[in-house]
Formats: sequence, structure tokens, C-alpha cells
Amino acid sequence: MTFSFVIKLFVQLSLLGLIYNISVVAVCNECQENNVACVNETSYHLCYGENIPNTNQLFTCPDGLVCTNLPNICFQRNTLPASCGDTSSCGLCNSNQVFACTSRTTFSFCFGAPIPSDVVGTCPTGMTCDASSSEFCVAELKPASIVCDLAEPIDIRNLYPELVIN
Ligand SMILES: *[C@@H]1O[C@H](CO)[C@@H](O)[C@H](O)[C@H]1NC(C)=O
Repeated sequence: MTFSFVIKLFVQLSLLGLIYNISVVAVCNECQENNVACVNETSYHLCYGENIPNTNQLFTCPDGLVCTNLPNICFQRNTLPASCGDTSSCGLCNSNQVFACTSRTTFSFCFGAPIPSDVVGTCPTGMTCDASSSEFCVAELKPASIVCDLAEPIDIRNLYPELVIN
């Protein structure tokens, strides 16, 4: 075990901690600290200090913003995962079976198979994994982008239990 490995591990662990503080995994229909419950990526109900969302009124974030747990409620889609984001593409190999996004910033290679391998990668800082793009990670999302809207990578072994070897 080399010194640089220890440094790398330390950096990875600190990054993980940072991401974890900004946003945890997808939370839908739950009153958050900011008094809103996100119903999907862009819409929310208010909680008015209660633990149960008031469903009489539905609010929607302005274009390009998503519902988050931050005080400002709606935040730039490019910057932060939505509290209740679209996770339907997580761990699914893209159309040409090259890779699957496993979070907003991580991916697994598929090597031509329908199910992702355990060979994983991380997008460069500031880029988002986009399963609609042949570039794996993009700096700017497009309306057609396919994002796995999670801060933490999903565990492929939980998605495909039949694959567990150990
Ligand atoms: C979110 O949910 C609301 C209420 O059901 C719906 O009107 C809206 O179209 C949904 N938005 C998305 C992006 O699914």
C-alpha cells in the first residue's frame, strides 16, 4: 500500500462526506427541513410546519430548476440532484450497451451486455453522467439527457441480485 493510495482514499472519503451533506438519496413526498415535500423532480407541496404535506396546492419550480431540500427550494438542475429525482435509468445500460449511469456522477461499463459490470468510473468534476450521450459525462444537460438523479451510486448488486458472486 503506497502513500499516494492513502491520500487518494482520504480524498475520496472526504468527497463522499461532502456529497452526503449536500443531498442524500431520493426522497419523495416527505416534508424536508425547508418545509416542502417534493412530489417529483420539479413539483412540490408545502408542509406549513407539519410533517404531512398539504396537498391542496401544487407548486412547480421555474424552468431549469429542480425541487431540493435547500432553503431556496428550487435549485439549478445542473448543480444539484433533485430531492425526488428520476432514478428510473439508474444502473440500466444505455441503448448501445456501453455504460450505465449509477448516480449523477458515476457510471459502470456494460461491455456490450445488457447488465452493467463492476468496472466503474467517476465523471470529471462538474460533469454529469448522461446515458443519452456517447461522451459518458457532459458539462451541460440537455432536455433529452438521461440522468440517474442520485447523489450516491446505487449498488448494482442490489439491482441485479442474481449476479451476486460472493
Ligand atoms: C410532477 O407531478 C405533477 C403532479 O402530479 C405533474 O403535474 C407534473 O407534470 C409532474 N412533473 C414531472 C416532471 O413529472
